[in-house]
Amino acid sequence: MSSFGNIFRVTTFGESHCKGVGCIVEGVPPGLPLTEDDIQPQLTRRRPGQSALTTPRDEKDRVSILSGTEFGTTLGTPIGLFVPNQDHRPGDYSETDLYPRPSHADWTYLQKYGVKASSGGGRSSARETIGRVAAGAIAEQYLKIAHGVEIVAFTSAIGPESMVDLTADHHAAMLQLAEVTRANVDSNEVRCPDAEAAARMRKVIESSRDAHDSIGGVVTCVIRNVPVGLGEPCFDKLEASLAHAMMSIPATKAFEVGSGFAGTRIPGSKHNDPWVKRPDGTLGTSTNYSGGIQGGITNGENIYFRVAFKPAATIGQEQNTATYDGQDGVLKARGRHDPCVVPRAIPIVEAMAALVIMDAVMQQNARKSAIESIPADVRDKIEARLTGKVRLP
Ligand SMILES: Cc1cc2nc3c(=O)[nH]c(=O)nc-3n(C[C@H](O)[C@H](O)[C@H](O)COP(=O)(O)O)c2cc1C
Repeated sequence: MSSFGNIFRVTTFGESHCKGVGCIVEGVPPGLPLTEDDIQPQLTRRRPGQSALTTPRDEKDRVSILSGTEFGTTLGTPIGLFVPNQDHRPGDYSETDLYPRPSHADWTYLQKYGVKASSGGGRSSARETIGRVAAGAIAEQYLKIAHGVEIVAFTSAIGPESMVDLTADHHAAMLQLAEVTRANVDSNEVRCPDAEAAARMRKVIESSRDAHDSIGGVVTCVIRNVPVGLGEPCFDKLEASLAHAMMSIPATKAFEVGSGFAGTRIPGSKHNDPWVKRPDGTLGTSTNYSGGIQGGITNGENIYFRVAFKPAATIGQEQNTATYDGQDGVLKARGRHDPCVVPRAIPIVEAMAALVIMDAVMQQNARKSAIESIPADVRDKIEARLTGKVRLP
């Protein structure tokens, strides 16, 4: 489906070579300050043509707010956002009229719909993610103002090159996640906050690009100042919603939360996160192998997760493959493509994280306000009945 979220809900539209792409966002709280300037920075970080490590397709990706705001303030009505496609060259795709690109979505879209966009991946193109990034910026705007939530994603591996393993030194890794900023991340074109690792990763991307090949990598994301109690067990546990969101991004192949797969090698005695009393009197944990989520519900610690991106399918090298009608042949794709999608995926991961947290906040706020609407005398009676057994929030 092209819609995501329950109360804060985005519907994206558009293909790679139509007039434009965008989204409709429902459930935005009224009275939120919002102009194009609040949305544009993340779209600019996502846009193609931004560095020598990304596709040269040159799109400015300027967003227009079509509805849902007045005088720089949200009205609570659906917000329509539009970004025109400008630098499209459908002629670049004549080879793919004959050949479905190996490991792209050409063949499966045709099988499913019986018809497909004539060029450039249509709806499966990463241009679709513009609507997500625009909607995510609105979610972030609310989360930051209302709760001080911070979301920072960064490149943690490209091909065989990576930053220090997050689980090798848990304390150092948690410190890094507590401190990393978007300014650190944007200090180089790879979007890796560790300059030495970024230089190694850059070489990998450049040699892939020069060989007309592509390469994959890993994005790590941290979410700070997350309210306690978000997530809707059983089926919409917060990590399940994050996994859904992340695995819906094009080219993703794996999702890990907290200690992830590495956690399977750590004994429970070390992996358990002991409770400690924080200076403000609330409970926190002294380690964070859980990644800020327990029982599908946030515990107030930083949420962190990793997403694996495959090497982009479209490459300029000759590939032995078959035409749509089954003839053996050689495809040498033209067109402009990302040698590595990871640096541009950073704002997309942040946007999808913001959409998940925003929707979870709105669901939990609905529950809390329903509880608060129970008259005080009824609550007092219930509290007396429950004393020593459970606590009302
Ligand atoms: C930011 C971004 C840029 C991408 N650029 C390209 C590209 O230039 N060429 C390509 O073949 N795939 C690219 N992709 C991936 C394809 O959209 C994706 O592989 C394709 O839709 C098939 O879907 P799947 O890989 O999820 O199965 C990109 C993905 C992202 C997130």
